[in-house]
Amino acid sequence: MPPARRGSPGEDAAPYLEAIREYAARDPARLHVPGHKGGPGADGELAAVIGEAALAHDIPALTWGIDIGRSPTPFEEAQQLAARAWGAGRTWFLTNGASQGNVTAAMTTAHYGREVVVQRNAHSSTIDGLVLSGLRPRFVAPELDEELGIAHCLLPETLDAALAATPAAAAAWIVSPTYFGAAADVRRLVDVAHSHGVPLIVDEAWGAHMTFHEALPEDALAAGADLVISSTHKIVGSLTQSAMLHLGADSRLQADIVDRCVTLTESTSPNSLLLASLDAARRLAVTRGRELIDETLHAVASAREQIRSIPGLDVLDERFVGRAGVYAYDPLRLAVDVRGLDADGYELARELREQADINLELAGQNVLVGVFGMGEDASPLAERFVAALRGAAARHAGEHAGERMRFAPPPPWGELVMTPREAFLGAQEVVPAARAAGRVAAESLATYPPGIPNVLPGERLTGETLAYIERTLQLGGSVRGASDRELRTIRVVVERA
Ligand SMILES: Cc1ncc(COP(=O)(O)O)c(C=O)c1O
Repeated sequence: MPPARRGSPGEDAAPYLEAIREYAARDPARLHVPGHKGGPGADGELAAVIGEAALAHDIPALTWGIDIGRSPTPFEEAQQLAARAWGAGRTWFLTNGASQGNVTAAMTTAHYGREVVVQRNAHSSTIDGLVLSGLRPRFVAPELDEELGIAHCLLPETLDAALAATPAAAAAWIVSPTYFGAAADVRRLVDVAHSHGVPLIVDEAWGAHMTFHEALPEDALAAGADLVISSTHKIVGSLTQSAMLHLGADSRLQADIVDRCVTLTESTSPNSLLLASLDAARRLAVTRGRELIDETLHAVASAREQIRSIPGLDVLDERFVGRAGVYAYDPLRLAVDVRGLDADGYELARELREQADINLELAGQNVLVGVFGMGEDASPLAERFVAALRGAAARHAGEHAGERMRFAPPPPWGELVMTPREAFLGAQEVVPAARAAGRVAAESLATYPPGIPNVLPGERLTGETLAYIERTLQLGGSVRGASDRELRTIRVVVERA
């Protein structure tokens, strides 16, 4: 039997992690899944790679004393501690990433209405959520940085106009911070959404750490958001694929509706290692997060200064704050502006990988992005990156430096003639791109730069948009989402006469 539980655990406890440790340490008779039985049934090389302890602690759901039994169970306590740590009304642990959070948010919204206002450059999992939920989106454009060819955040006035034009909207849905570290004025966006009587959903996949240091942008829950999607694994240090969904303390959304949507989108066999890693990451963030983030901030600040002194390179930093769509900046992303060199970001990323085994989070035409975690040994990593950049800058300081594809803002997206779900699931065919204008897209097309979808399922394809995508490809850009990467063909809806 598990030992009797004491009173509620403090923030330095990790109740779920401790409960699976206790279970494995007891050497229980495992007449349950998984079939490797805590190790003996696993392939030897797998055991060597992930360690015997990982196998021993791979324990299924519905195990007495862990997630069933006297309430609150250690699993419930772990989620309660997370809610307290992030300032949420309630928190759910997710084992299919922030992607699951976005799909859950869409299914939740669909309980309140059929329409939603969504930031256009939402993550693909948000579009998946629209397909699954059947919601009709009104898309709103983020601010474009035409110099760098990247998208920043959404302005409150843009959201206000979109909500005014969508009186039946059930929610507004934004992304902040971005991949590049720009953060929105979430507090004002909350006010705007609430003034229209709808909740604000924030995809804060990139901001799970922001709660734990005052030098970082204000986090969405503190700013009053109603539902927040958080990719805990990205920066805070839980295992890949683990994430959290937070309900705001005074949310306009109901916890029991979110709860049934989490159940709908989750496996009946959530991985205990992922769950334990969320519990542990929360403890680390609460007890040592500020100090760890401080160390990382210093290392990244020093790297930024060194990179700025390299001819041909610059960095995105606080100087960006105040540009349209950049209300605040998250310094844990090291975004390097490479426009001053005679190679683009894609070529430089390949060179850094091949010559120095430097593996970046993101490479764009004009910007390289390295991500720093909350608790890593950031200084040597940053120094290695700076040294490799110094070498690359010396090799590419040629006479053609700074000459590259001019970024032209994309044309307006086409009319939404059916919901993404109707387009995704309806009758469809594949046609040559040259004959696709006027048809309704059954797939997404997003050119990089700047990564804002040009076409989403349900939208009418225009000649202007197709020509823009073609031109971007010719100039060395890329298109994501298309079933044919070279865009010779496009999947379109077969419309009934
Ligand atoms: C803004 C945003 N939302 C959601 C996700 C999905 O996160 P996950 O990979 O944890 O499913 C990502 C992933 O990069 C993202 O950038």
